[in-house]
Amino acid sequence: MKVGERHTRTIWQGADQHSVEIIDQRWLPHEFRIASLTSVDNVAVAIKDMWVRGAPLIGVTAAYGVAMAMSVDASDVNLDSTWHKLHETRPTAINLKWALDEMRRTLLPVPHAQRQSAAYARAAELADEDVELNRSMGRHGLALIREIAAGKKPGEVVNILTHCNAGWLATVDYGTATAPIYSAYEAGIPIHVYVDETRPRNQGAQLTAWEMVNHGVPHTLIVDNAGGHLMQHGQVDMVIVGTDRTTANGDVCNKIGTYLKALAAHDNGVPFYVALPSPTIDWTVRDGIREIPIEERSAEEVTYVQGRSIDGGITKVRISPEGTLAANPAFDVTPARLITGLITERGVAIASPEGLLGLFPERK
Ligand code: MRU
Repeated sequence: MKVGERHTRTIWQGADQHSVEIIDQRWLPHEFRIASLTSVDNVAVAIKDMWVRGAPLIGVTAAYGVAMAMSVDASDVNLDSTWHKLHETRPTAINLKWALDEMRRTLLPVPHAQRQSAAYARAAELADEDVELNRSMGRHGLALIREIAAGKKPGEVVNILTHCNAGWLATVDYGTATAPIYSAYEAGIPIHVYVDETRPRNQGAQLTAWEMVNHGVPHTLIVDNAGGHLMQHGQVDMVIVGTDRTTANGDVCNKIGTYLKALAAHDNGVPFYVALPSPTIDWTVRDGIREIPIEERSAEEVTYVQGRSIDGGITKVRISPEGTLAANPAFDVTPARLITGLITERGVAIASPEGLLGLFPERK
């Protein structure tokens, strides 16, 4: 994706062939900083403290973490302890477990002497595969946006609302929810994006808005509570969000606040789509509300906000009284019945077991 005029991915291998370079997302949109991760411990911190975030990118970063661990000690014991160390960094996004399982499955049959090179090669493949999955979702989502545009008068703008950052910063490139948006923009369909700010960490205000600026997509930042009002007044034609884990039943776990947007969309007859690559489907889970572990993050993310101060530095300010307790569940679950369709790399499915199995029959 574009940063200025340069095409950039969110993660790439360092020139030393051991480290990986990442965009350190803690400082965006104010500063574009690149960080070098040189050990599995570095990788664990970068995932836990959200230098990188977004389900697909967490998975790919963890895969490189396994490769770094293998370059120090390629034993089965270290492979196993690395799996656990990285798995516990963030509990909700299933792409993390998927990528770690994929690395373990690839490496176990490989002789120890070749594990390091096999691990880097597989991690690089996972990164490239993520880009291709997102491109495919972009094509399928574009067809949906075209359909909505065709129902409008010529030149009328298609208004799309999105929550959190399911953009290229949440993946290796293109994004999940944003892939159809960028495809529509490039196809010349007049679109406009409402960007939810997404408290408490403001991924919408800080990351999605920054992506849209860089890509030139017309957009408007709104507070999280504005979406329902805009839908009641016919100002939203469709919602597209991403997901951290989708169940075999089609329930969708995503950033906190997604469920409220789905309720408002349902009440107002606004189509609500979720874009997801297949590694985000947890085929072992049926009841999203009861079975998906919801990450509880630090209260400080609620009681403080970070931004650029008037004197130019990046700073944090407290917004609630000392002594007020804060709760910070980071994700919620939107039941399948509120979802119009799941945009996958293989096409658009109804959010149901039959819908998903229709596209992924090998899972029957
Ligand atoms: O806590 P985050 O910023 O990692 O949460 C990210 C999201 O909720 C995204 O919507 C989700 O990972 C889908 S991203 C392609």
